[in-house]
Amino acid sequence: MKVGIDQIGYFTPNKYVDMVDLAHARNQDPNKFLIGIGQSKMSVADATQDTVSMGINATLRYLNKINKSKVGLLIFGTESSVDQSKSGSLFVKSALKLDPSVRAFEVKEACFGLTAGLMIAQDFVRLHPDQTAIVIGSDIARYGLKTAGEVTQGAGSVSLLISSNPRILELNEGHSAYSEDINDFWRPNNSKLAKVDGKYSTQVYLDFFKHTFNDYKEQKNLETRDFAAIVYHLPFTKMGLKANRIAIEGEDEETNARLMDSFTAAKELNANVGNIYTGSLYLSLLSLLENGDLKAGDLTGLFSYGSGAMAEFYSANVVEGYEKQIDKAGDEALLAKRKKLSVDEYERIFSEALEDPKNGVELVSDEDSGKYYFAGIKDDIRQYQAK
Ligand code: HMG
Repeated sequence: MKVGIDQIGYFTPNKYVDMVDLAHARNQDPNKFLIGIGQSKMSVADATQDTVSMGINATLRYLNKINKSKVGLLIFGTESSVDQSKSGSLFVKSALKLDPSVRAFEVKEACFGLTAGLMIAQDFVRLHPDQTAIVIGSDIARYGLKTAGEVTQGAGSVSLLISSNPRILELNEGHSAYSEDINDFWRPNNSKLAKVDGKYSTQVYLDFFKHTFNDYKEQKNLETRDFAAIVYHLPFTKMGLKANRIAIEGEDEETNARLMDSFTAAKELNANVGNIYTGSLYLSLLSLLENGDLKAGDLTGLFSYGSGAMAEFYSANVVEGYEKQIDKAGDEALLAKRKKLSVDEYERIFSEALEDPKNGVELVSDEDSGKYYFAGIKDDIRQYQAK
């Protein structure tokens, strides 16, 4: 039985900062951000968009295309959770009016959270082929103003529907996983901003990529040239470019060109949204599906990395007619309608969103942001509202 990704929905808030403006404000050469880091724009979440509202908005992108009564599992992967106890899944389940029999919970392992959920969902659907699973990755990447990590921030969510006989990607059985208990990036409970050993984190990412990619190829008796494309977790697009260069080292010209072209297609959305942690790999997959040159049956490799650190390489095959399941125009419109912020406006909005609103203060969302928004806290309980 084939199991895989049947639907993909993504959401990003309606504001952004241009990396050229940010570079000027930080006395940096714009090419450092545009080329050295590989980012053009970065989405900014104001106080009315958090991981829950973004996760709901991402899932709404495909909800009217699916049979809601078949959803048996709802997993929320995040590292910017809104509560230490209650899972984001329950807020989402309630907003989407899913059945109470749905199993709903949250998972965490840095940017690996969505992949962890996807692997659980895949096993669930293999056991219950008549049911489907929604897996959401939703995050706001915050390193802080004027830090080295600032240019690698972002905000957004990706939601996947996992089913039998999927219409976008069929997941292949097997994977190569690798983990080590290290401190490359972490966020203590008392901080809304991540701590990071930046250069070390990029080195570990590449080491884990080499390990899992080589191990996967060996396990499956595959060569690099067998892949039509490889997509990567993209904390910033230059990171994936470095991994891709390792993947194609010593390969023939045709493989080199194909994997570089597919990487260029796969980084488009990420270069304009920024790091969305758990959703980043899947935003890149969506970008590849929309901008690449894939045919039915093409083998795609996926490299997931979560700091701390946990990595996994796995693969999937493209399903005939996948283009019909993707809303390229809607995805482009989501980016096109974002409002450009000046660096001063970004700094104010960023700082305001770091603080939780006081009990009883009602937040008002912009007209053109997502349908769902965080409306404030009443009696210590977070309130989500639809427009
Ligand atoms: P930095 O110190 O600002 O940058 O930190 P740099 O000085 O290393 O420069 C970056 C690149 O720009 C270099 O290229 C420069 O040569 C180039 P590279 O050597 O890397 O190829 N450069 C220029 N290029 C063109 N024109 C110019 C120019 N000037 C310089 N004029 C760093 C960069 C990424 C470390 C920082 O932004 C950071 O700490 N980011 C956050 C950490 C991060 O994203 N790590 C990635 C791996 S860990 C991960 O992926 C997990 C994560 O998503 C979290 C999770 O799992 O939850 C982060």
